Amino acid sequence: MRTPLIAGNWKMFKTVFEAVAFAKEFKSLVKDVANVDIVLAPPFTAMHPVSEALRASNVAVASQDLFWEKDGAYTGAVSPAMVREAGAEYAIVGHSERRRLFGDTDVAVNRKVRAAIDADLTPIFCVGETLDEREANATLAVLDRQLQGGLDAITGEQVAALVIAYEPVWAIGTGRVATAAQAQDAHAHIRGRLRTWFGADVADRCRILYGGSVKPDNIAELIAEADVDGALVGGASLDVRSFGEIVTNSRRAVI
Ligand code: 13P
Repeated sequence: MRTPLIAGNWKMFKTVFEAVAFAKEFKSLVKDVANVDIVLAPPFTAMHPVSEALRASNVAVASQDLFWEKDGAYTGAVSPAMVREAGAEYAIVGHSERRRLFGDTDVAVNRKVRAAIDADLTPIFCVGETLDEREANATLAVLDRQLQGGLDAITGEQVAALVIAYEPVWAIGTGRVATAAQAQDAHAHIRGRLRTWFGADVADRCRILYGGSVKPDNIAELIAEADVDGALVGGASLDVRSFGEIVTNSRRAVI
């Protein structure tokens, strides 16, 4: 059984002061939550202080990106080891905003996924189609290309341990959430590909999150789908109460 994972991606929001205040309030709000993995991805500047504030809590930290080189003359870049040292256990890689605004190709995303794994970070590897691609019935082809590229030269064991986030670009920050059925279709396709490439055991263990306009009132419906293992939350993770409610509402009904 896969443990649900709820990750908040703060994008370029929150100063160090605001981030630490959030972390302190949030960790006491969710301290009794069990059987859900909870992750926060602050901007680089706030990663270390947020990790310190979350020490000995049930909330882990992720970076929003990283560079694949270990060190060197790469102005503005942050290495996987630096991210790890700052307290992160996860690294978001291949977010559509990085792909669209900062030129991350599938090859670059693959290097980042591999570098994250090498530094003992769990990648949260993002894939997803644009509206044009969906309307052109290219969704599954786009997912295949991104998955094949991003997972190149990664072993089955490594795939089983990483996290994939399906984030349809048209649903990000738009308030237009994918229906639970649309999310399930894409997730089932992704898991099917993992099954073909890496076998049933790997496919069954890999967690696939949905991202795009997730809110406290739609998470339960999404996570009720068989192949939706959690969420990558943008806007609604910026508020302690709403992110806390998403975590609370993500616990699968135990039958
Ligand atoms: P929103 O939840 O604001 O739509 O953002 C989703 C996202 O991009 C998370 O990485």
